Amino acid sequence: MLRLTCAALCAVALTTHVLAADSGTTRVVLDAARPGAKIDRNIFGQFAEHLGRGIYEGVWVGPDSTIPNTRGIRNDVVSALKAIKVPNVRWPGGCFADEYHWRNGIGPRDKRPATLNPNWGGVIEPNTFGTHEFMDFVQQIGADAYLSINVGSGTPAEAADWLEYLTTPQPTTLAKERAANGHPAPYPVALLGIGNESWGCGGSMTPDEYVNHLRVYARYARNYNTAQPMRRIAVGPDGDDTGYTEAVMKAWKEKTWAWDIEGISLHSYTVVKWPPSFKATGFGESEYATILKSTLNMEKLVSTHSAVMDRYDPEKKIALVVDEWGAWLAPTPGSPQGFLEQQNSQRDALVAALNLNIFARHGDRVRAANIAQMVNVLQAMIFTQKEKMVLTPTYHVFHMYVPFQDATLVPVELAAGTYKTGDIELPRVDAIAARDAAGKLWVSLTNLDAQQAATLELAVSGAKFTRAQGQVLAAPKIDSVNTFEAPGAVVPKPISASGKSLSVKLPPASVAVLALE
Ligand code: AHR
Repeated sequence: MLRLTCAALCAVALTTHVLAADSGTTRVVLDAARPGAKIDRNIFGQFAEHLGRGIYEGVWVGPDSTIPNTRGIRNDVVSALKAIKVPNVRWPGGCFADEYHWRNGIGPRDKRPATLNPNWGGVIEPNTFGTHEFMDFVQQIGADAYLSINVGSGTPAEAADWLEYLTTPQPTTLAKERAANGHPAPYPVALLGIGNESWGCGGSMTPDEYVNHLRVYARYARNYNTAQPMRRIAVGPDGDDTGYTEAVMKAWKEKTWAWDIEGISLHSYTVVKWPPSFKATGFGESEYATILKSTLNMEKLVSTHSAVMDRYDPEKKIALVVDEWGAWLAPTPGSPQGFLEQQNSQRDALVAALNLNIFARHGDRVRAANIAQMVNVLQAMIFTQKEKMVLTPTYHVFHMYVPFQDATLVPVELAAGTYKTGDIELPRVDAIAARDAAGKLWVSLTNLDAQQAATLELAVSGAKFTRAQGQVLAAPKIDSVNTFEAPGAVVPKPISASGKSLSVKLPPASVAVLALE
């Protein structure tokens, strides 16, 4: 299978390098003379919902906890997230956001009401972690705030008040209340989601019903903090249904001066069957390949919705924001119902790399994305258990990909070959490359083949590089995981390529990131 990997815009000009794979060796040619779009660092965003142990235990332990914390927020989690340079965190949901009333989460913590979380296990929501705690958390990890406002069960006035409370520098009554609650300065809100899945848990609205809400909320949920521009993200499609994409983009095209948006969201999980039944561990090669095949469908989804958007917005002013993505697998046996806890294996590492590669190749349109979810939920970066913390294989991919944040895509050409198992055929390898702000070239290589190592030869057209070095994430088995007892089972190891042909050998089912020298 010949698979050409490059930004959409270079597809027409690929004839300069026709590559032939020989006896198991794949040539990977970086066309450094033809830079593509910027890989917006916001595609490495996280999603943290009030769901299971995602916030409580995962982020918030309270100032009186014996677990080391800063103002109630776990220090170990903060330092792990700082290391992956999280660009933004989406909060408070998800489905939770459309039932969240922000006033419940401000003021003295011991006076906050106990409410319910009907979406996720029907547990009590103590509202201990509210607006100020979230803003403190994102500031501690150095990320931007991506707030999702309540369109489903809230009102435009409630959303407008929240934004005024957060962002106004003027001494309004709401700003004085913010100051009395400990924060005189206005907060920066970089991204604002106008509802969540309004076609589903966010109100079961038709596209036209949603657009009627969108116009109103996009007008009144104002940002008053001029030091921080805020991008408004409309609810967009569920998977491949283009109904919302068409309706929102048409409304935007025909909009008046009175409202605007800067993005539209796409939600798509790697789930295969509903309800999620693919095991997170203890699976075989067939389930491994099925999940990878399913995750590669992201390419088609992004292309489909981008094509609709191109008809209304050829200048690509509106970003496609994939603000929920990742593997949604069968819950960990014995975990509480509705907590969406699942293990995270080497297969998840490949799911992460393949999706990030797709987003990077579509960097002209995909300018933000949020993996679901950050801690203890779905395809998490981190698991916590009381005072213990463990980093998942997915975390390590995000760590290895840090050099791609805000780098400029460099087209890659390769004959990807075919990895076949049973009746599933997948590309054998995948790759992206980019040039960082300092001018250094980086390449990410993924070997999808669960059985065979892949030998790759790296080349840069028109330039001579003699060394490449970096890290490879491989594992003893495709379902290897990190546990609290064995946190180092799947961790990156050094890898390098040298010699005339810059040859590098990737173990089966592995991801590598290398810098070229
Ligand atoms: O991430 C879990 C849930 O999945 C979110 O709350 C919702 O938006 C989506 O359906």
